[in-house]
Amino acid sequence: MILLDGKKTSEAIKKEIALEVEQLVANGSRRPKLVAILVGDDGASRTYVNNKEKACQDVGFDSAVIRYPGDTSEEELLAKIDEINGDPGVDGLIVQLPLPPHIDEAKVIHNISPSKDVDGFHSQNVGKLMLGEETFVSATPYGIMALLEHYNIDTKGKHCVVLGRSNIVGRPISNLLSLKGNPGDCTVTICHSKTRNIEQHTRMADIIIAAIGIPQFLKEDMVKEGAVVVDVGITRVPDATRAKGYRLVGDVDFEHVAPKCSYITPVPGGVGPMTIVSLMRNTLQAMKQHK
Ligand code: GUN
Repeated sequence: MILLDGKKTSEAIKKEIALEVEQLVANGSRRPKLVAILVGDDGASRTYVNNKEKACQDVGFDSAVIRYPGDTSEEELLAKIDEINGDPGVDGLIVQLPLPPHIDEAKVIHNISPSKDVDGFHSQNVGKLMLGEETFVSATPYGIMALLEHYNIDTKGKHCVVLGRSNIVGRPISNLLSLKGNPGDCTVTICHSKTRNIEQHTRMADIIIAAIGIPQFLKEDMVKEGAVVVDVGITRVPDATRAKGYRLVGDVDFEHVAPKCSYITPVPGGVGPMTIVSLMRNTLQAMKQHK
């Protein structure tokens, strides 16, 4: 079993980005800039946004985080997005999800300029992704593809089972893995909450992408020998023995599944850091396109 080390892989990619930024700056360019909007005080969202801000510092980007209280109106949020859309000094804009229930998430995403939508959530960018056109690939699927590529995992003709059909992970990764190319050329099955006999599907999978948000959902008897398992789950489970009062648990019962795998991602240190570095990649790309 080989660990797909997202921490190490993302550090290597970060170094490449940082080098490119310094070269751009040396040639008279300004630094890429990412703006993140956070509404409310969800603990996990706060951590994600802080990690994104820290990554910006690591690679030499400018960044700003705009924090709004949870009762901020949709109108105020949309006005801020409009303002940032029109700011030529900003390359990438992300609104951390989930948003409070009184705000229409789809409307918010739709108001982000597609050229600054480095999360790749806007329907225009999702459409391009579906067609295999160059676009901002949303960060988690982009990170998974980069990890598979980094470890030279042969995906051609393989049967990939994706657990979860979210707009952020399940749908785009299913599409990417079914497209022509490497990684890609997979036969993809998407499973979700209404799928019958999920284990019959997962047992046939050469590659499993677990993105359903149920801690330790994927058990040893659901995985065939030699499978590649990518764990996207990252749930905070209360744990009084930890200083923070919780630990992070993936969608895979790692302890029992890992011995059967040819490759598997750990949680934490697998997909998470790859997601963040992919956002940095998209922001750099946005900056080059804006130049
Ligand atoms: N919430 C969970 N994942 C993401 C992400 O990749 N981007 C944003 N904006 N919100 C998220």
